Formats: sequence, structure tokens, C-alpha cells
Amino acid sequence: MSDPKPILSAAAKHSDRMEELRRISAEAEAGGGPERREREHKAGKLTARERIHLLLDEGTFEELDKFVRHGCVDFGMQEQRPAGDGFVTGFGRIDGRLVYVFAQDFTVFGGSLSQANAQKICKIMDLAMRAGAPVIGLNDSGGARIQEGVASLAGYADIFLRNTLASGVIPQISAIMGPCAGGAVYSPAITDFIFMTRETSYMFVTGPDVLKTVTHEEVTKQELGGAMTHNATSGVAHFVSRDDADCLAMIRELMSFLPSNNVEDPPRRTTTDSPTRRDDSLNTLVPADPQLPYDMKDVIHTIVDEGYFFEVHEHYAKNIVVGFARLDGRPVGIVGNQPAYLAGVLDINASVKGARFVRFCDAFNIPLITFEDVPGFLPGTQQEFGGIIRHGAKLLFAFAEATVPKITVITRKAYGGAYCVMASKHIRTDANFAWPTAEIAVMGPEGAVNIVYKRELDKAPEAERARLRQEKIAEFRERFANPFVAAERGYIDAVVEPAETRARIITSLRALENKRDTNPRKKHGNIPL
Ligand code: HXC
Repeated sequence: MSDPKPILSAAAKHSDRMEELRRISAEAEAGGGPERREREHKAGKLTARERIHLLLDEGTFEELDKFVRHGCVDFGMQEQRPAGDGFVTGFGRIDGRLVYVFAQDFTVFGGSLSQANAQKICKIMDLAMRAGAPVIGLNDSGGARIQEGVASLAGYADIFLRNTLASGVIPQISAIMGPCAGGAVYSPAITDFIFMTRETSYMFVTGPDVLKTVTHEEVTKQELGGAMTHNATSGVAHFVSRDDADCLAMIRELMSFLPSNNVEDPPRRTTTDSPTRRDDSLNTLVPADPQLPYDMKDVIHTIVDEGYFFEVHEHYAKNIVVGFARLDGRPVGIVGNQPAYLAGVLDINASVKGARFVRFCDAFNIPLITFEDVPGFLPGTQQEFGGIIRHGAKLLFAFAEATVPKITVITRKAYGGAYCVMASKHIRTDANFAWPTAEIAVMGPEGAVNIVYKRELDKAPEAERARLRQEKIAEFRERFANPFVAAERGYIDAVVEPAETRARIITSLRALENKRDTNPRKKHGNIPL
């Protein structure tokens, strides 16, 4: 007979371990405790776990490293070593598709970054790269864990390296849902899109207190780095949401347009919107007077599937419009000049905004549809001193290097260098259409006449001058401000009736389905940064 004792003690041990597992798990889930959680809720914020729950499909979250603890023994930290160390990391699904996620829990040491939770983030980033899945970071942190010193800085740098290597391979999305200061801003800055919550988030390299000492400026956190500052003024952030729940819903929406990685195509949806749908309202949308504005978003909404346009960078450089839509159920990136704002002129901010969006779409196999109505680049010392030459060249570079299917529709003005830049035929655009209202020329008729006929106008008697100028302008407009000169040369593939634009674009998109184009082999290009 064998002795039953060891069997009993193994069972007891087993039950102890189960108990320990439950205890550690509960400890990790409790975060910084009910009081701190309550404080967050009162401030209108959710906790890290509540956010992950809302972000992912129900019941799909698999947590990793719940048992990790920090190893700091300075400043009494050995007495406070909560399971998980405040960062929640793992993977789950959005609309059934795999994503990796991390969320910083402000209730544990202010969401500060320890070496241990930097390693947690690095682990999921490495897994995401191997699996070819996006990474979504929900940021809410007081920055580097002060008690850990350089170990925390090293942790940040480890993350920055991974952000950089993952750029263009997997989509990386950052949500700023609380503080994000100092070095903590750089990881989001390297990622593809930044979301901010309206009242509860802020980002800055140096905060108001330091600013007051160094530059004697007095600003609030919100003024310096709040959601609208970064959405409308600096352009650092791409989306602003009402609150946490709205932010997480917007991230899910964005994901529906993106492939999981750079070797996948973006996900298609079935649509009931007919590919041949005509819309006669487009035939009269562009005003007869070329000086009058119209809203390019009306053009976009009218043409895309179900009229649905998911705008990116809505509040920044409104003279260019960028965002995602679907055509024939297929995600596309839309770039449009906006005649309703600064006449749709290209300035520094608009060029950089457009270039970044074009490069994202090209990296992730999202076809580019360009709607063009641009009077040129914005003149002036402010723009020239600011480097419009270099920044404008970014947009040119981005469109020229893009190898995804590219389709351009010129609705009205396509003047000067801006004509070349905005996905013209000459920089490898596959299909170039123009509406009959298109004006393709080196510059507008007024400017052209003032230069070409300067001597003649100066010599003309004063009483005659205005009439002569108008005559020359009309002549110039008649000769050049139309799409047919460019179409004669094949720079425009077809002059199309506006009502048919949706059908024409979709037919071209279908023809380009298997498009393959490459750039010369190189380490990387040298975009004029
Ligand atoms: C450790 C931190 C912390 C940090 C906050 N806490 N930040 N613990 N390291 N960086 C702790 C607080 O001690 C507090 O603990 C709890 O988090 C909540 O913080 P509060 O200050 O009470 O919250 P609030 O009033 O909302 O203010 C939030 C805050 C402030 C503005 C973020 O905490 C703050 O200024 N923190 C320091 C920010 C900072 O300077 N970080 C370093 C940036 S430099 P208890 O126990 O009281 O709840 C950096 C360099 C990285 O990041 C460079 C990489 C290249």
C-alpha cells in the first residue's frame, strides 16, 4: 500500500497555487485601488482595463505579463511592487482581426514607465511584428518612472527603436487619454495616427512650470498641449474625440480601413452602392465664376460609397482635405484641395499634412484618389522664410514615390507647380481625369496677362488699359484655362462628365487591381525633411 500523505499534500499545494494565482490576478486587476480609480472616473476618464474592454471585440482580450513586477529597490519602491506594474498589455480582436494593445494605468504610479513595463511593451511590439498585426497604445502617463532613473529612459529608447523599425510594416496607433509629457511624447509621434480626448489629455515636451521659468510664458496645460492645440495648431494629433468611449470607437472605425500589415490589402466590405451610380448634382457643383468657392467635401461625399468619408486631420490645414473612404467596397485614401478654405492653396502645413497621409497610404497598399482644385503655392515672406520650397517638395516626393494605384480628378484649377505636385500624369499617376470646368495652366489668366503683356499694358493709354487687360485675360482663359490642351497631349486621359466620376474612378480602380510598380533598389530615399 502506498502512503496517501504525499498525494494529499500535492493536492493542498495545488489548491494553494490556485489561490495564489487568483490573488495575484486580482491584485493586478485592482490597479492603484478604488480611491484612485474613483478619481479617474470623476475626471471623466476610464481605467486602462475599461478602455481595453471597449476597444476590443467582447471577450477577445488575452493579457500577457500580468505577473511582471518592477525591480526597483530605491526610494522604498521594494515595498510597492504591484502585479503587472500598472501597464496592461496583450492582444485581442477588432472586427475579428488581430491587434496588439497596451494601456497605461494612471492609478499605478501615475502610469509612469518603469523598465519592467517598457519590456512588456517591447514584448507585444515584437510579437505584433512577427504576427503582422497592428499595435494600439493607450497612453496615460506621467512619463519616465522617476524612481528608476536611467533604466526608465533606456526603456523609452527601446520602445522608440521598435516604433521606428515597425513604421511602414504594421499600422501603429496612439491614443492620448491623459497626460503625456517629456520623452513619452516621442513614441506616439513616431506612430501613424494620434488620437486625443478633448478635455482630459495633453502632450508636451516641457510643461507649463518649466516654460514659466525658462521663457516666462504663462499657459495652461490645455493651451500648451491640449487636444485642440495639437489637432488644429501644431498638427501633431490627427483626431479629437469627445471622451474615452468616443476615442476608442473612432480607433475601431479607423482600423476598418487599414490592412493588418504592409503585405496585406486593406479589408473590403460589400456595398449596396452601385458602382455605376451617376450624380447629376456634380454637373453644377463648380460655380461658373472661377473665383467663387465650393466645398470639396461635397464632391467627395457624393462620389464615395454611401457618402461616407472618415476624415483625418480635420482641424489642421483645412486647405487640404485627407481621409479614408470606400469605392466599390474597397478602402481608398482621398486627398483633395479645399477651395472653400484659403482658395485651396498649398502652403507649408497643407503640404506636410498631405505628404504624410500619402506616404501612409502608399506604405499600406491603400489606393490614392486625388481631387484637385489648386491655385498654386501660397506666396509671401512667411511661407518662403518658413521653407515652403522644402515642405512643398515633400508632397511632390510623396506622390512621386507612391506605387499604389493613383487616380486624379481635376475639378477646376490646376496651376503651376501645384499641377505637377498633385498626382499629375508625369509622376506616375495611373488615371488622370478632368472635368470640363478644369483650368490647367502655368498660372491663372490674370497673373499670366500681367506678366506676358506687361509692356503692352504699360504703353496703352490709361483709359484703354483696363479694357485691354480684360480682353487679354479672356483670350488667355479661352486658350489655356481648359482641360483640352492637356488632354490633347495625353496628360489627361479623359475629360469626363462630372456626374459620371464615381463610375470612371471605380472602373479604373478595378483595372488597377493587380497593379505592380516598384522604385529603384535603395536603402531609403531622402525625402526633404
Ligand atoms: C513616478 C509618478 C510620476 C512619475 C506621477 N507619479 N508621475 N510616479 N514617476 N513620472 C505618481 C505621483 O507620485 C502620484 O502618486 C500619482 O502618480 C499621481 O500623480 P499626481 O501628481 O497626484 O497626479 P496629477 O495631479 O493628475 O498630475 C499628473 C502629472 C504629474 C501632471 C503627470 O504627476 C507630473 O507632473 N508628473 C511628473 C511628470 C514628469 O515630469 N515626468 C518625467 C518626464 S521626463 P500617488 O502615490 O500620490 O498616487 C521623461 C523623460 C523621458 O519622461 C525621456 C525619454 C527619452
